[in-house]
Amino acid sequence: MTSTTERALVAGGSGDTGRELLAVLGPTDLEVRATTRSYANVDELERLGADEVAVVDFFESTAAVRAVEGVDYVFSTLGTSPGPRHVLGGRLVDRTGVINLITAAVAEGVDHVALQSAIGVGTSRARMPLPARLLVRGTLRAKGDAETALRRSGLGYTVFRPGRLTNGPPSGEVLVGEGGDSVWGSIPRGDVARLMAAAPFSPDARNRTFEVVSRDGLSGSPRNLVDVPWERGRIGTEGEIYP
Ligand SMILES: NC(=O)c1ccc[n+]([C@@H]2O[C@H](COP(=O)([O-])OP(=O)(O)OC[C@H]3O[C@@H](n4cnc5c(N)ncnc54)[C@H](OP(=O)(O)O)[C@@H]3O)[C@@H](O)[C@H]2O)c1
Repeated sequence: MTSTTERALVAGGSGDTGRELLAVLGPTDLEVRATTRSYANVDELERLGADEVAVVDFFESTAAVRAVEGVDYVFSTLGTSPGPRHVLGGRLVDRTGVINLITAAVAEGVDHVALQSAIGVGTSRARMPLPARLLVRGTLRAKGDAETALRRSGLGYTVFRPGRLTNGPPSGEVLVGEGGDSVWGSIPRGDVARLMAAAPFSPDARNRTFEVVSRDGLSGSPRNLVDVPWERGRIGTEGEIYP
């Protein structure tokens, strides 16, 4: 690798959105490092597009420092696996792990962090139906703290708040809202991954927080939609339809 090669970290590369990100970033000129907590995932993540796999638990701040070493762009798809902690909260990777990642990214001087959060967090709280919100209130609070830490970090960032995630094929047609009271519905993880991958190379997306659903997945009336010129040449998805 030459010293001019840029490196991307997919924190949570073994997750469902993380794998979609690896498929998008793998063919680019970026050197891609993916993380997982399990050595059993390493071969598969390399097959999916990772040049390097780091086995990391983001609850450990020293491991987070190792993960971001030499990295220019961070993509975080970290999240708590299904279970009672979504309601109960407490020590969650959505807060503690992401904040360890952000702290390490600041020390490393990374250029940009793309953070996968959720509709229901912070200003988008009211857009998530109450029954759904109650089931994940612990993680929503944790994600809110992580979003705040990222905004205050001084790093370049883009926060993505998707609606319900699906594993369907990417639709290519997404609705992007801003300001919290914008959209609700569902979105394929592949669409989220494509937007996240474009974010560091899209100057207009810098230091902004977006709510995202697919056009097909929209529930109710959209408000506060924005038209973001995503720069997709660098990641090779410019032939696909996006707003
Ligand atoms: N499900 C929804 O409908 C929905 C809606 C909106 C937003 N979101 C959010 O979107 C994000 C991505 O969701 P997803 O369903 O695609 O993800 P996922 O499949 O649940 O993957 C989560 C990832 O986080 C990693 N992780 C968890 N705890 C960790 C720790 N302590 N240290 C290091 N890595 C850890 C997992 O790694 P391992 O391989 O080590 O387990 C995995 O790679 C999450 O933040 C989720 O809350 C979800």
